[in-house]
Amino acid sequence: MRKTLFLSVSIDGMIANKQGIPLFPEGSWEDWCSLVNETGNVIAGRSSFEQVNNPEMGAALHPKHKIVLSSRDLDLNDSGWQQAKSPKEALQILEDAGVEEAIIGGGRTVSHAFMSEGLVDQIVIDLNPVAFGEGIPIFGGPIEVPQLKLLDSKPLNEDTLRLRYEVVR
Ligand SMILES: NC(=O)c1ccc[n+]([C@@H]2O[C@H](COP(=O)([O-])OP(=O)(O)OC[C@H]3O[C@@H](n4cnc5c(N)ncnc54)[C@H](OP(=O)(O)O)[C@@H]3O)[C@@H](O)[C@H]2O)c1
Repeated sequence: MRKTLFLSVSIDGMIANKQGIPLFPEGSWEDWCSLVNETGNVIAGRSSFEQVNNPEMGAALHPKHKIVLSSRDLDLNDSGWQQAKSPKEALQILEDAGVEEAIIGGGRTVSHAFMSEGLVDQIVIDLNPVAFGEGIPIFGGPIEVPQLKLLDSKPLNEDTLRLRYEVVR
C-alpha cells in the first residue's frame, strides 16, 4: 500500500493561517476532497477532524474510510469516522481493508508524525495561490527529507498546481 501525504499549501509553505484556518481558494477544498474520495480514504489528526466534522465541510468529504488519529478515547458515535491511536495502527486498518493508496490528510502534527516515522512514500501538494506570512507550517518540527523526486504536476485551475513527489530514501 502506497502512503501519500496530501496537503493544500500556500506559496509560503503554510497549511493554515495563524488562526488555524486553511483558507482554501474557491474550488480548492472540493478538488482536495475529490482525490480523497477517489482513493476512498483519509487519515486526519484529531484537531483537523474537529474542523471538518460538520455538515458544511463534511458534505464534500465522503471516502469509504475516514480515520481520526488520537491518543484519547474518542466518542465518534455515527460520525462515519473510526479511530486509530498511532500512525501505524491507522495504516494497518487501511491495509487490512485492501486500500491501495493511504491518504494522510494532516494537519501539521500528523504530517510530522508520519514523516518522522518514515511512513510517507509520496507527497502531493496542491500549491494554492495564497500567502499567509505567518501561520501553521506543513511540518512545524525537524524532519529529514533529503530528496524529493517530482513524479507529476498538473494545473487544477489557472492559478493552482498539483505536484506529486516521491520521497527518495
Ligand atoms: N491545508 C491543508 O491541507 C490542511 C490539512 C489538514 C489540516 N490543516 C490545518 O492543520 C491545522 C491542524 O494541525 P494540528 O497540528 O494543530 O493538528 P492535527 O495534526 O490535525 O491533530 C493533532 C492531534 O492528532 C493526534 N495525533 C497526532 N499525532 C499523533 C500520533 N502520533 N499518535 C496519536 N495521535 C496523534 C493528537 O490528538 P489527541 O490530542 O486527541 O491525542 C493531536 O493532538 C488546522 O489549522 C487545519 O486547518 C490543513
